[in-house]
Amino acid sequence: MQVVSQAADLAKGTPVTRGLEGCAIVIFGATGDLTRRMIVPALFNLRQRGLLPDDFAIVGFSRSKWNTAVFRDEMGTAVREFAGGVDRDSWEDFAQRLHYISGNYGNRDDFQQLAALLSRVSEEHNCGGRYVFYLSTPPSVYSDVIQQLGAVGLHQAEESDSWRRVVIEKPFGRDLATAQTLNAQIANVFAEPQTYRIDHYLGKETVQNILVFRLANHIFEPLWNRRYVDHVQITASESIGIEHRAGYYEESGAMRDMFQNHLLQLYSLVAMDPPVVFDAEAVAAEKIKALRATRPIPLTQIDQWAVRGQYGPGWVRGEYAKGYREEENTDPQSNRETFAALKLYIDNWRWEGVPFYLRSGKSMTKKVTEIAIQFKRVPHLLFGLTPADTLNPNAIVIRVQPNEGFSLQFRVKSPGQTIRVHQVSMNFDYESLFNGEAPPAYETLLLDIMRGDRTLFAHSEWIEYAWGLITPIIEAWESSPASNFPNYEAGSWGPPEADALIAMDGRSWRRP
Ligand code: BG6
Repeated sequence: MQVVSQAADLAKGTPVTRGLEGCAIVIFGATGDLTRRMIVPALFNLRQRGLLPDDFAIVGFSRSKWNTAVFRDEMGTAVREFAGGVDRDSWEDFAQRLHYISGNYGNRDDFQQLAALLSRVSEEHNCGGRYVFYLSTPPSVYSDVIQQLGAVGLHQAEESDSWRRVVIEKPFGRDLATAQTLNAQIANVFAEPQTYRIDHYLGKETVQNILVFRLANHIFEPLWNRRYVDHVQITASESIGIEHRAGYYEESGAMRDMFQNHLLQLYSLVAMDPPVVFDAEAVAAEKIKALRATRPIPLTQIDQWAVRGQYGPGWVRGEYAKGYREEENTDPQSNRETFAALKLYIDNWRWEGVPFYLRSGKSMTKKVTEIAIQFKRVPHLLFGLTPADTLNPNAIVIRVQPNEGFSLQFRVKSPGQTIRVHQVSMNFDYESLFNGEAPPAYETLLLDIMRGDRTLFAHSEWIEYAWGLITPIIEAWESSPASNFPNYEAGSWGPPEADALIAMDGRSWRRP
């Protein structure tokens, strides 16, 4: 985990490449969108900036009958489109590291061919038999790929200084049972320390900073508990709809797409206790404890704990936006939730009685991801405040995106001869302080995989606890279609049910 930005690290002369070993990265699903938009451009950027070693290669594996020349051409186009500035020499250096093999994900012979190609590539580029297997395929073939890797022995390194790692993209299962099955299939072949489950939110700079902010400062941690915190709000709103992903989204919905992974990761990082040391196992253990202590939602009163929404037509940032049921390829009667809000309690000494409110949705007013730690009101107020002023006491707001940074909100006296109380905030803003140097999440995560640092990846047990919390809600919703969908307008802050959920406790959502 990079606790300082890569650029700052370089500036201090500490190489971000520390612990980084040359390797070959096999991308399954090499002709897919993620490879083109994210993985290859991120690897190219890292190499162009001198952060990848010379002994490095990529092998694309996919069903399409491409060959190495086609793969290089296609990736050239992808890199020009998604990597930013590309200089010719860097591209030529990178292109000769790209190799391709076509095959079927369940076919043993094809994996034997892959093994043969990998030894040639490893020799040519001096990768020392160190391989990363990156599963960027549809989840339906994860188990085939893992099984075949095991069957041809690619999961085990032959030499003591080489290693094998497997990277799994989201979605990791679609409920608790499927996630458990997938974990078991992986565990049959790869050990947990070889397994990297991606959650790109963990690669975001501000997300990594949550722990540094909490644990490298003395002034915040003493306040981080039930004695001072009134409640916590975690928001991940998006102004875009489902774009062209109807097929995926009709199967998924907001709970699977955003809560089981990204929102619960943010929640775990805010709620966890300090780890005994700063390494992957110790951090994972504390995050798992936070989920274990989370009270399951009482299904008999689900509406008081979890609400769902679906967007209808509306206006987003001045432009007309279709409703979910009118989007291309969605079911015109669809019951799929595009918004959800959830109230969680953690039954432990730190958080007993403090509600955590989580919400996320598509086609909302704006894109913003933030965590607000809302503190209790002062025990006795000496100054006359208007009712509106009493509502917003101190808060720490972690702005994950956009305008990445932190702010501390507090009250001061406004100038004048009478006492008038005014809400102000003290801001730390990444862009103005570090010139917008936060590295993209995928670059951070790829470097960590090559370094063998799993701190920013989801642990098998964490995944199962997260699904354990979410699955009963999804099942309840899927078995009883919402009668009021669509229930929020595109471009709004979500359905009235979400306001009611929090208003029930005498609180209200922030309007970031
Ligand atoms: C993805 C979801 O995991 O995260 C998308 O599948 C969502 O539906 C995206 O739009 C949000 O990521 P970010 O980084 O843009 O907040």
